[in-house]
Order: sequence, then C-alpha cells, then structure tokens
Amino acid sequence: MIACVRDTGNAALLDEVASGADNITVQQMDAGDPASIEAAAAAIGDAPIDVLINNAGAVGGQHQSLDDVDIEEWHRTLDINTIGPLLISRAFKSNLAASGDGKLMIVTSQLAASTWPMGGMYIYSTTKAGVSKVGQILALDWKEEPITVGLMHPGWVQTDMGGPHAEITAEESASGIRGVIAGMTKADSGSFYKWNGEIHPW
Ligand SMILES: NC(=O)c1ccc[n+]([C@@H]2O[C@H](COP(=O)([O-])OP(=O)(O)OC[C@H]3O[C@@H](n4cnc5c(N)ncnc54)[C@H](OP(=O)(O)O)[C@@H]3O)[C@@H](O)[C@H]2O)c1
Repeated sequence: MIACVRDTGNAALLDEVASGADNITVQQMDAGDPASIEAAAAAIGDAPIDVLINNAGAVGGQHQSLDDVDIEEWHRTLDINTIGPLLISRAFKSNLAASGDGKLMIVTSQLAASTWPMGGMYIYSTTKAGVSKVGQILALDWKEEPITVGLMHPGWVQTDMGGPHAEITAEESASGIRGVIAGMTKADSGSFYKWNGEIHPW
C-alpha cells in the first residue's frame, strides 16, 4: 500500500501505522500541486495499482456565503478538490490498467448532488460537483480500459472536517468504502455511491 501525504513531516499517525506494517510506503504528494503529482508518479513508477482512492479534500475556508466569498480560496480549493483528482487519476492510469482490474474511487460529497437541499457553501459544493463530473467523464473516457471508476459520498464522518458530532466514525466510513470498492464491477463504472453501498442520487 502506498499512502500519499502532502507534508511528510506532519504525519505522525501515518508514520506510526506504517512503521508497524511491512506493506505500507509513505509517499509525498500534494494533491493541489501538479508538479508534486508528477514527482510522486515518477517515484512510484510502473507498479500495478489495484485500487486508487482520491481522498484528499479541502472544505474551502469560512468565507463561502453569497455575500462573503473568498475568491482566492475558491481557486486553491478547485486545485485540490477538482483538478488534483483528475491529474492524479491521469498520472496513475497506466498503473491501474496494469492491474488488469483497476478500481479508481473519487471521494466527493453529498453537497455535490443536485438533491442537496441547503444553500451556501459555494466553494466546497461547486468544487465537489466538479470532481463528481470528472469521475463521470473518466468512466466514459476509460470505457475500453480495465479500470472501474466510482464516486463516493463517505457519509458525515467524525474527522477534522466533519467534527466530533458527525454521524459515523472514520472506521465505519472507511470500512463501508472498502466494501463498495470490493464489489464494484466494470458495469458499475461512473456510479455515485454512499459509504453504505446505496446509490447516491446525482
Ligand atoms: N468528514 C465528512 O463528513 C465528509 C463528508 C463528505 C465528504 N468528505 C470528503 O472526504 C474526504 C476526506 O475528508 P476528511 O473528513 O478526512 O477531511 P479532513 O479531516 O479535513 O482531512 C482532509 C485530508 O485531506 C488532506 N489534504 C488536504 N489538502 C491536501 C492536499 N493539497 N494534498 C494532499 N492532501 C491534502 C489533509 O491533509 P493534512 O493532514 O496535510 O491537512 C487531510 O488528511 C475529503 O475529500 C472530503 O471532502 C468528508
């Protein structure tokens, strides 16, 4: 397993997990920096990759209401949430294909869906809607490739982003996502899931 992190000097928990396992490699990669993505792809080389999870994401700061929107933060968040996952997916396409049955999962959000009923959150919602579309287009562009593409709403999760009062733990979310990935077939490519395996409405 290759765990990518943008700041290798600030990943104590990941280091602890990796040091206790002989099959986890830590690789520097900033999802918002094309040069960093290319450098990580070069370091990883042509090793087959069975599953690639684009999980890194940013909420986009506190200023994202109609009357108070931080435009610079919107651009930065677009780089991380939307463009980064596209560049990462493209950079590792041949690795996924080399697996023979590669699975690409892009973690998006329920806020990306047209069915999300609340206003505000312009930066997060639009950058996640963008990456959902990226995944849908990748599924079409790669329909002849041995790669299945999925989109995932991971639930409202107890992380720094979701906060301590969120509905599910990170373990519950991760375990559900693993189950969905294990069950995905090529016919499912382009589907939008919830962590529990249900299909999410677009
Ligand atoms: N939590 C929820 O309820 C929820 C709901 C829907 C969707 N999501 C999505 O689920 C994914 C995981 O979110 P989370 O709840 O774990 O959020 P989080 O607690 O804010 O953690 C975000 C993670 O993304 C990493 N990251 C941010 N920018 C990065 C960059 N430029 N390059 C590399 N890594 C970067 C962060 O790394 P650092 O440790 O270096 O900061 C951190 O590990 C995100 O895509 C998020 O949008 C979460």
